[in-house]
Amino acid sequence: MTKPGNRFFAPENPLSNSLAPIKDELAVQIQHLNFAFGKGDLCKQVLFDISLNLPKGQIVILTGPSGSGKTTLISLIGALRTVREGSLRVMGQELADMRNADRVRVRQSIGFIFQSHNLFESLTARQNVEMAVELLGRFKSKRDQAEVILTQLGLADRMDHKPQALSGGQKQRVAIARALVNHPPLILADEPTAALDKQTSREVVTLMQTLTREQNCTVLMVTHDNRILDVADRIINLVDGQLESDTNPDAFINSHTYKNSKHDDAKMFIM
Ligand SMILES: Nc1ncnc2c1ncn2[C@@H]1O[C@H](COP(=O)(O)OP(=O)(O)OP(=O)(O)O)[C@@H](O)[C@H]1O
Ligand SMILES: [Mg+2]
Repeated sequence: MTKPGNRFFAPENPLSNSLAPIKDELAVQIQHLNFAFGKGDLCKQVLFDISLNLPKGQIVILTGPSGSGKTTLISLIGALRTVREGSLRVMGQELADMRNADRVRVRQSIGFIFQSHNLFESLTARQNVEMAVELLGRFKSKRDQAEVILTQLGLADRMDHKPQALSGGQKQRVAIARALVNHPPLILADEPTAALDKQTSREVVTLMQTLTREQNCTVLMVTHDNRILDVADRIINLVDGQLESDTNPDAFINSHTYKNSKHDDAKMFIM
């Protein structure tokens, strides 16, 4: 392992010699990624030698204890933070040391969904979604695109409502509509169902699953919610900044949950 925060310090594994070729079928290709917050004495490494491939079209759940580095990893993949050590390619583009302007372009090809929906309170559901289309300069089609996706998400009769007049599940569906409206090849979702009840969580992830299958995009979703694990093709567990396991939902549930509990609530969270 190289010294955290200093990529030029005695590298044991020179990436220039070990990088795999860019593969077209991969949405995300990560090799030997390390990440630390802070510098010098305050430097705290939170991701350790992560290597991971996400093929196009897969729905992948990222889970793990609080503080294990899930949001940090998602924000690096989403070009919201700078990759300084290791290789991280999104749709074939290397993010390591990428210039700010280029990272902005990468972000435009990603749909983000966060735990709190981050909608603009002063705009209607339709306008919130239209804004995402405007960002790509598509002013003529924005209304049609927003209406189509909001209708698909069951919000045809809620388009002209502002967020304060929508339920939690409806707001989260508007946020999903905003993330999907430009048909991004990659969706990054950080605990999208955390604020939702059981039934609404299920509805929201089922809709995400249907729409992403239709649009053939890749989804990486952070969740602690055991009730939605079955939507995934694959579950990755991150512990203390390291990949602990990478498996299918059945194998994961058998090895990581309180499966003998009589109470649904006890089964809800991943150990
Ligand atoms: N901006 C920051 N500056 C310094 N340390 C940070 C920063 N953001 C996160 N950390 C630290 O990095 C570690 C990983 O945090 P991260 O938010 O990625 O965890 P997480 O797995 O998403 O946790 P949770 O499940 O609680 O959301 C934690 O120890 C956290 O305190
Ligand atoms: Mg987090």
